Amino acid sequence: MQNSLSISFHAPHTLLLLVLLPWVRGAVGQEGFCSVPPSVVAESSSKPLYWKVTNPTLSPANLQDLPGFTRSVYRWDHALITPESHVFSPLPDWVNTLGAYLITPAMGAHFSMYLAKMQENSRSGLPPKDVERFVFVVDGGVTFSNGSIIDHKLPVDSYAYLPPNVEHLLKCDTTATILIFERRYMSLENHCPEQIIGSTEKQPLLETPGEVFELRKLLPTSAPYDFNIHIMDFQPGEYLNVKEVHYNQHGLLLLEGQGIYRLGDSWYPVQAGDVIWMAPFVPQWYAALGKTPSRYLLYKDVNRNPL
Ligand SMILES: *[C@@H]1O[C@H](CO)[C@@H](O)[C@H](O)[C@H]1NC(C)=O
Repeated sequence: MQNSLSISFHAPHTLLLLVLLPWVRGAVGQEGFCSVPPSVVAESSSKPLYWKVTNPTLSPANLQDLPGFTRSVYRWDHALITPESHVFSPLPDWVNTLGAYLITPAMGAHFSMYLAKMQENSRSGLPPKDVERFVFVVDGGVTFSNGSIIDHKLPVDSYAYLPPNVEHLLKCDTTATILIFERRYMSLENHCPEQIIGSTEKQPLLETPGEVFELRKLLPTSAPYDFNIHIMDFQPGEYLNVKEVHYNQHGLLLLEGQGIYRLGDSWYPVQAGDVIWMAPFVPQWYAALGKTPSRYLLYKDVNRNPL
């Protein structure tokens, strides 16, 4: 439908089509098998000569149409994985759920980070033995249960941490997108992590000496936990003071906003939806730009001797 219309516009029948369009659109729209958004029709008939000069192909709205183009980058010490290169396939052991692994040990990471798109009547599977799991709801909502009588509704911005080998189930009756981190738990004598359910808004703002961003931590900072998840907020124009180089590794999802991420000697324009892998010791720095605040979610391994 869309194709045949735009082809016809090159022919002298344009006028006739324009007259008929409201009828054509109404008729097929009601049948429900084809609906051309009004903007597509309006655009293709009203574009001035040279319009591409002022609407370059790299403007965000057109980015996905440029054949072969992606902002994704994969280097030995960092990766940027942008939404146009996310590949979803059925998650093993899950029901009605598609997953896209974005960071895995194959890159050199000691953890996995993936997006799971839960569909109608979907169910989660369990992580492998001795693997802990962190779940953050990005879109929609899921129900969490661990076999006890209490179920938890997890709406957007809420999360669950599951220690290794804890039976649990995530259920979704409609649709939901969740972000998951998994890691082989590094046990510590006399310490045992516990199940945690929470939401970002309920976590207190923490001190960030020498920095301007707002920081929340979603997990306790105590020894049983071998990683934490940080939520970091920047106003447009704010940036990291420390040009960090450290032993910890990171998995990052930009939840809101735009900015520039420096990784090693490369400077990447980034926007909401982008995922970043940072290996230990890769020089890293962020500046929030654009017109809206930035928020990102960050995995960081903590509390363990690197030896
Ligand atoms: C299961 O969930 C309940 C309710 O949230 C919680 O009190 C309990 O500690 C959990 N069980 C385990 C083994 O973590």
